[in-house]
Amino acid sequence: MLMVEQLQKSFGGVAALDGCSFNAAESHITAIIGPNGAGKSTLLNCISGATKPDRGRITLFDNNVTAEKPHRLARAGLARTFQISRELSSLTLLENVLLAQQSQSDEHFFAPIFLRGRILKEEKEATQRAMQLLTRVGLERLADETASVLSGGQKKLLELARALMLNPRVVLLDEPAAGVAPPMVQVLIEVIKGLQGKGVSFILVEHNMDMVAALSDHVVVMAEGKKLVEGTFKDVTSDRRVADAYLGGVL
Ligand SMILES: Nc1ncnc2c1ncn2[C@@H]1O[C@H](COP(=O)(O)OP(=O)(O)O)[C@@H](O)[C@H]1O
Ligand SMILES: [Mg+2]
Repeated sequence: MLMVEQLQKSFGGVAALDGCSFNAAESHITAIIGPNGAGKSTLLNCISGATKPDRGRITLFDNNVTAEKPHRLARAGLARTFQISRELSSLTLLENVLLAQQSQSDEHFFAPIFLRGRILKEEKEATQRAMQLLTRVGLERLADETASVLSGGQKKLLELARALMLNPRVVLLDEPAAGVAPPMVQVLIEVIKGLQGKGVSFILVEHNMDMVAALSDHVVVMAEGKKLVEGTFKDVTSDRRVADAYLGGVL
């Protein structure tokens, strides 16, 4: 489904990615782990089109999508989660999901009042779909509340619902469990599993090893900008090189 070949990305003199290659299979959850500074976020940013790699190639469903714009990637079936910004916090959950289409494709800033005008024009069909997605992540009761009332974990669920509005085949998740209370991590795990059951594939960057253990079909361990080891969760966590990388890394 996704092939990353020899990605290279430097910031000043620092090589964030230094020949990173890996493959992710369709309908799998592929986890990317590794110590801080390993290049995981840079890798996700390159795949999602937010960062342009200096070198290398990214192939999605047999199309070369290297340095492709995010809205074109969205059309090719790839979505990522975004943090719910301050502007979006003042809108309701339903409005947030309805607006996902624009915010994935558009980097422009819209004042909430202007957003509301757009929402009024949305079709009934889109509203129904947004409600279905809120139901799928278990937030339907809160559809008319503003996003500012949500806990950290509920915001992650809302981010997921927003990403799903584009009907993606692949979703990129950067640390969905970060800052989320343990019971909510379990909810997130169940929701992501359920979506995988519906045919959605995931690339998951995560430090929470309970989540990685519960979800990953395949684990890629990164260190110093490239793949160090890959395999099942069991394989990689019993690998000496992985333990060494975490000890050597800035934790
Ligand atoms: N925008 C940037 N400007 C300068 N350096 C960056 C930038 N993004 C990442 N880096 C550097 O690249 C390396 C990899 O960072 P990152 O991809 O965030 O790693 P991870 O997500 O695995 O912690 C780090 O040394 C980081 O400081
Ligand atoms: Mg990171």
